[in-house]
Amino acid sequence: MGRSVPPPTSQNSLTVTDNRTGKTIQVPIENNSIPATAFKKLNKKRGDGDSAQDEVEAGVRVYDPGFMNTAVIQSNITFIDGEAGILRYRGYPIEQLAEQSTFLESAFLLLYGELPTQQQFKLFEQEVLHHTYVHRDVEQIVGAFRYDAHPMSILTASFAALGAFAPEANPALAGQKLYSSGTTEALAVMDKQIFRILGKAITVGAMAYRIRQGRAFNAPPSGLNYTETYLYLLDHLNEPNYKPNPVIAKALDILFLLHADHELNCSAAAMLQVGSSLADPYSAVAAATAALYGPLHGGANEAVIRMLTAIGSPENVPAYLEKVKKKEVVLSGFGHRIYRTSDPRSKIIRKTAEEVFAVTGRNPLLDTAMALHDAAISDEYFVSRRLYPNVDYWSGLIYQALGFPPDYFTVLFAIPRVVGWLAHWRQLMLQKNGVKIWRPRQLYVGEGERDYVEIEKREEKPNADPTTVPSKVPHLHSKRVFLARDSKM
Ligand SMILES: CC(C)(COP(=O)(O)OP(=O)(O)OC[C@H]1O[C@@H](n2cnc3c(N)ncnc32)[C@H](O)[C@@H]1OP(=O)(O)O)[C@@H](O)C(=O)NCCC(=O)NCCS
Repeated sequence: MGRSVPPPTSQNSLTVTDNRTGKTIQVPIENNSIPATAFKKLNKKRGDGDSAQDEVEAGVRVYDPGFMNTAVIQSNITFIDGEAGILRYRGYPIEQLAEQSTFLESAFLLLYGELPTQQQFKLFEQEVLHHTYVHRDVEQIVGAFRYDAHPMSILTASFAALGAFAPEANPALAGQKLYSSGTTEALAVMDKQIFRILGKAITVGAMAYRIRQGRAFNAPPSGLNYTETYLYLLDHLNEPNYKPNPVIAKALDILFLLHADHELNCSAAAMLQVGSSLADPYSAVAAATAALYGPLHGGANEAVIRMLTAIGSPENVPAYLEKVKKKEVVLSGFGHRIYRTSDPRSKIIRKTAEEVFAVTGRNPLLDTAMALHDAAISDEYFVSRRLYPNVDYWSGLIYQALGFPPDYFTVLFAIPRVVGWLAHWRQLMLQKNGVKIWRPRQLYVGEGERDYVEIEKREEKPNADPTTVPSKVPHLHSKRVFLARDSKM
């Protein structure tokens, strides 16, 4: 961050004394944060009690499993105040954007920092929609998936595959400074990939849906906006001049806008982690998509529907909450690493849900969802841990009412989140001091140095701790194969 060492009297500093050596350092505080590297100065000679692995000569290391309190980048994109339940894209409150903006306009805002002018927006929309077409071979790659493949597996693989069609966009092939040189050409190459990835995200996302039904893929239409184009790609069969239902298209656009970014979460961090090695953006988006797939992140919306279906009806809610409190199960769609109050997006989604139900009919799981919500927000377990509904609690109910199968829900989260990933990636590529590879440290607490022992001299370990030996795994052979094997013994 380029901080200078403050004078000893500076108020904006920490005075830290290493009680092992009596050494004192001044650590600057900027933006209410301290640079972790300052602690490297707290080094000492290795004494009798110090293990070699602790590397005391190299200074004190900062240990933060799960990134509970570590900032790894300065960002201008999204601000969250988890205590107050505030979310802003580039300074604009999410409520105002949801009410007045559109997904693609907010995408421009997230990527480039300002709301677009009419002309800028027109050009941006044209570029993105122009890139909805994919190479014929991409259709074959996606078409090779089995009908029952999870759509997120298909999406992850599709993004990675798209990179193979753009070798000129790969710093490994086209030069390491391809994106980070700061030249007009570098910006143009970067923006071209952004338009391409945004455009193709809805096309491959729709393919991941249609492959399940054995339906041919649609060619992108013209004259529709981004969300309508996606709905067309998903649903069009042979209807003349197909145009999606406007209430559904608007609701999906709002959901897309709400999911477009959420500062440095698990998948955005994955995007930057991979991007920091100067991997191409398609590979980095594939990594971010994989991170989003997990049930603790984007997979939670699917988990909510599975949970509500398992609960079945409102009278079973108290029994389910008891299981949550005994930590046998989690309450999916509740809790958040940053929010200690209701996720502001969940309130907007709740309203959008009513608008959708007005055209689709009420989701039968809604009563159970409301009973569970009301019981949880007034229960001591959740209140004391400050666990409130997050974005995924209600979104799944809308997706289900719209007729999407639960395993497709995370795709509906991933497509808009591509915007956020690309905004963070663009910002990383444009760092003033160039791109530094993200290489975290670890604390090695394993064996010290030891000598190799020949295999015949090693003792068998019948009672070994199961975490230290390979597990016995059942094989899915037919009974006949087992009988054939047994007969040889
Ligand atoms: C989002 C999530 C991963 C955040 O995790 P985190 O910041 O590491 O929070 P922790 O796991 O430390 O939770 C703190 C406490 O609340 C409990 N808790 C957190 N979320 C919970 C949930 N959804 N249901 C039940 N208990 C929960 C933890 O068990 C822990 O209890 P303890 O203090 O008795 O050990 C977590 O809240 C979760 O798993 N939620 C469900 C999945 C989900 O909805 N994810 C989508 C996020 S947008």
